[in-house]
Amino acid sequence: MKTSIMAFAALLGHTSAQNFLIINSCSTPVYFQPILSNGDTSGPLNTVQPGQSWSEVYRPHGSTVKIGTNETLGEHLSIEYKFSSTDPDYIWYEFNTAFGNPFASHHNSLSAGDGCSNFLCKANDTDNCYSTVYAGKIWACPLPANLTAHLCDPPLPSSYRPIMASITSTDLSTILPKVHDLSDIELALLLSLITHDHPILTTPASHIDTLTRELSLIALRTFHLTHAIVNCTPSTTLDDFASALLIPSSSSQKKPSRPDYFAPRPLRPSRRSTSPPSSGQIANCILATNLDLAPRAVQIQALELLRTGRIFTRTTVQTAPKRFIFIPILQADAPGKGPQLTSHLNDSFALAHWHDPEDGYVNVEDEDERVERNSVDSVDINHLAQLSQQVEIDIDVKRYQMNVVSFLRMHRAVQDGITPAATKHFEKLMRCLAPIHTLDYVTPALVGVAAKKTYLHRIRITTPENERSMQWGSSLDAVTALLNDVGPEQVINDVLSMVTAPI
Ligand SMILES: *[C@@H]1O[C@H](CO)[C@@H](O)[C@H](O)[C@H]1NC(C)=O
Ligand SMILES: *[C@@H]1O[C@H](CO)[C@@H](O)[C@H](O)[C@H]1NC(C)=O
Ligand SMILES: *[C@@H]1O[C@H](CO)[C@@H](O)[C@H](O)[C@H]1NC(C)=O
Ligand SMILES: *[C@@H]1O[C@H](CO)[C@@H](O)[C@H](O)[C@H]1NC(C)=O
Repeated sequence: MKTSIMAFAALLGHTSAQNFLIINSCSTPVYFQPILSNGDTSGPLNTVQPGQSWSEVYRPHGSTVKIGTNETLGEHLSIEYKFSSTDPDYIWYEFNTAFGNPFASHHNSLSAGDGCSNFLCKANDTDNCYSTVYAGKIWACPLPANLTAHLCDPPLPSSYRPIMASITSTDLSTILPKVHDLSDIELALLLSLITHDHPILTTPASHIDTLTRELSLIALRTFHLTHAIVNCTPSTTLDDFASALLIPSSSSQKKPSRPDYFAPRPLRPSRRSTSPPSSGQIANCILATNLDLAPRAVQIQALELLRTGRIFTRTTVQTAPKRFIFIPILQADAPGKGPQLTSHLNDSFALAHWHDPEDGYVNVEDEDERVERNSVDSVDINHLAQLSQQVEIDIDVKRYQMNVVSFLRMHRAVQDGITPAATKHFEKLMRCLAPIHTLDYVTPALVGVAAKKTYLHRIRITTPENERSMQWGSSLDAVTALLNDVGPEQVINDVLSMVTAPI
């Protein structure tokens, strides 16, 4: 196929037990045939009977498969999936109608799982959904993932709505007033706690300390979480980092005191043990100031901690608690400006929030007055998480979201940062914004809000030399002037104003 725009190579490992699957829900058999790697020879012709499915383990180099309604396969849909050597953690896939679409009058899908961009194509939607000769579309999804082609997929009846409206009016009535009282910083934390992801907070350098103080109060008072502060510098070692994650034993974070007879018996120090005396517990909320300054090795450990919930030191393995939120606090003079974390690390943060010092620090300011502020407990958070999973995303809104992603990727000022992981975070965020707005479906406006939060820390602006129009002879000065003031925030706003929202 000529539509592929990336150079692909062999897949490295990873693929065991991940399958390419074809499901036939049509009333007639479906015929399919792989095109073998050199591009012209065809593999064996296969059939999937109505109501049946067929699957195989991914081919190591990916595969292109023709699918049609009879054995001639003259007119056929094509499916292509590939693995890239530069991004071995992703599968790329395409649902292409360049050679026709004998299933066009049915709802068909090619999906790598929830949270990824997928082809979910309504009956007779031949222009916008599939990849076509005129508008190639390739989506990607982080592995592990199974890729499923579902032909004549019975779409959900349009009357389908998860029964949520009634829950909304009762249970949420106690939670929402609390949520609407939250500051933007608190909201960023709440969203991260709901999705079990982690946010990046940025603010001008001179305000990092105050913001850290505010966050520690929020952890304690609003969410009842223990916290630890890790101040990173270029000389932070792995051991410094790992030990700073533990709940400080100081009195600032007293547990509710228990009657004496429950008090743990003092442990007799063992003679044989030479390890440090305390091997405490990792705090619920880690505030990592200036994480970007930490040596690469430390940033990699932080990534490991986010991925696996564990951190290894020379002497111990520490496990993160179930409720765990890791917040880098970085300096940035404006949203989307500022330093960069190592790239895989920053991609694992779901959202970014720039705190404008002018917006103040609600908790720090109230600190002395001991104002009792609303708190959001784990029951509330679990409830919101559950509702967010029941949120419905209409196919038009889903398509709008995918268009926003494509336009971001194509934006002339964007070098990179529009990653598959971002697409997943984007969708999760859309979903959990809905219940907070008393909705059981996602609106285009929520897509816009989620886009701004998801991509702020990811988009990297291209250099003038690499800007696309340079290839057809733009002047460097003109392009430099054009890109001068463009930042991630403006790119996102541009795209949101360009992509037509569904009504
Ligand atoms: C096979 O299907 C195509 C359309 O999908 C149709 O045009 C063609 O006539 C069919 N051939 C046979 C032999 O049925
Ligand atoms: C799709 O188009 C076909 C033929 O034009 C028509 O028979 C069918 O009813 C359409 N289906 C839908 C869901 O609009
Ligand atoms: C893929 O499918 C296989 C077999 O059905 C299943 O065992 C595996 O968990 C699936 N993997 C993912 C990531 O869904
Ligand atoms: C985040 O990662 C992306 C892609 O890996 C990169 O383009 C971007 O510059 C990084 N941004 C920051 C703020 O580190």
